[in-house]
Amino acid sequence: MGKGKVDALLGIVFGDEGKGKIVDVFTPRYDIVARFAGGPNAGHTIIFGGKKFVLRSIPSGIFDEGKTNIIGNGCVIAPDLFMQEAKELEQAGYDLKSRLHISRRAHLILPTHRLLDRAYEAAKGKDKVGTTGKGIGPTYSDKASRTGLRVGDILNNFQGKYNMMKARHEQILHDLGFTGYDIRQEERLWMQGIEYMRQFPLTDTEIELGKALKEGKSVLAEGAQGTMLDIDHGTYPFVSSSNTVCGGVCTGLGVAPSSIGEVYGIFKAYSTRVGSGPFPVELLDETGDKIRETGHEYGAVTGRNRRCGWLDLVALRYAIMINGVTQLIMMKSDVLDDFAEIKVCTRYTKDGIVTDEMPYDTEGWNAVYETLPGWQTDLTQMTGESQFPKQLKDYIAFIEQATGTPITIVSVGPDRAQTIER
Ligand code: IMP
Repeated sequence: MGKGKVDALLGIVFGDEGKGKIVDVFTPRYDIVARFAGGPNAGHTIIFGGKKFVLRSIPSGIFDEGKTNIIGNGCVIAPDLFMQEAKELEQAGYDLKSRLHISRRAHLILPTHRLLDRAYEAAKGKDKVGTTGKGIGPTYSDKASRTGLRVGDILNNFQGKYNMMKARHEQILHDLGFTGYDIRQEERLWMQGIEYMRQFPLTDTEIELGKALKEGKSVLAEGAQGTMLDIDHGTYPFVSSSNTVCGGVCTGLGVAPSSIGEVYGIFKAYSTRVGSGPFPVELLDETGDKIRETGHEYGAVTGRNRRCGWLDLVALRYAIMINGVTQLIMMKSDVLDDFAEIKVCTRYTKDGIVTDEMPYDTEGWNAVYETLPGWQTDLTQMTGESQFPKQLKDYIAFIEQATGTPITIVSVGPDRAQTIER
């Protein structure tokens, strides 16, 4: 952690790596926690004071009273869902209104964006992305088309702008043959959300961050989703619509590349993916089912079954390169406690070609594995690396060697205490 620096904590595969838990462990070390991309498609699960919270748009630093939290310009925000999420935290006793600053440049997700998300997915048929249905793609599309509504618009002739945008969306929905919806109730709640948001500091967060960094404050940029869901570097078109990689920290918060310090790349000891798209390591057998059941791999936002597979070093190496990862964090190691053998994908193959580099089009590639012995030991009670079984140490060394990057934290269970720093 560097003074006057922004450290990034990034999911480096398909999201759901357990960022929420690690941000919670890291937060005491930072002055500011900031979200830079995505929106309510994320679901960061945090267990705090014995209660489980799922944070969608709000940074995980919110549980720590002394910290400032920022929703940066690169994020998209749904006022109704934000209000729900924030009120739940307020009811649990957390003060938000002075500590949560929202960028005026962040874009608003309208109820009609959510309808468009559904309509576009329906139109795609079997090629659908399998989105979370939160309107993420259509909102970022409007941003890129320069027709979006921003948080700052709340403060200035809002209703007129809203009506115009809604009418445009309704025309598109009509053209797509997507009719028969009734969003009156949703819209009422959404407008209440707009009023509620007015009570928060709606600010120029990039300027605040610039000043804070100059004063030597430390910032943690909390990623959402993962590198393989990045709009540029993920498995396009089966991706989300923002830059989830380290470059997104700079654009999504308005901080300079030279202010980036440590880049923590977080991954699970195995792989998961939600939604459609290529997934060469996918296990469609009882091994995959066992990983899903042991790891409780069901979506935090949609409840969907997550697709499960072995660790993919092709993806990991690619993500380490794109993000400039300086330290790796391996989550959910304990989920592999009960396997006699553990496989690791080191290369992909298709039509007689073998590669260890991420192909442009991951469709149709098969994983090539190396097999390592499992540790078949309960890791969940371990408190230090010295207690690790030899097979786990070998597994860690294998990954470090293959990626050229140290694993500095190993998580062995959901609790904060089950986090072993090396
Ligand atoms: P969208 O972000 O809702 O547009 O969904 C695009 C793709 O990203 C879908 O495959 C989603 O399942 C996936 N996705 C979006 N957010 C998350 C996340 O937080 N964790 C895992 N997958 C996600």
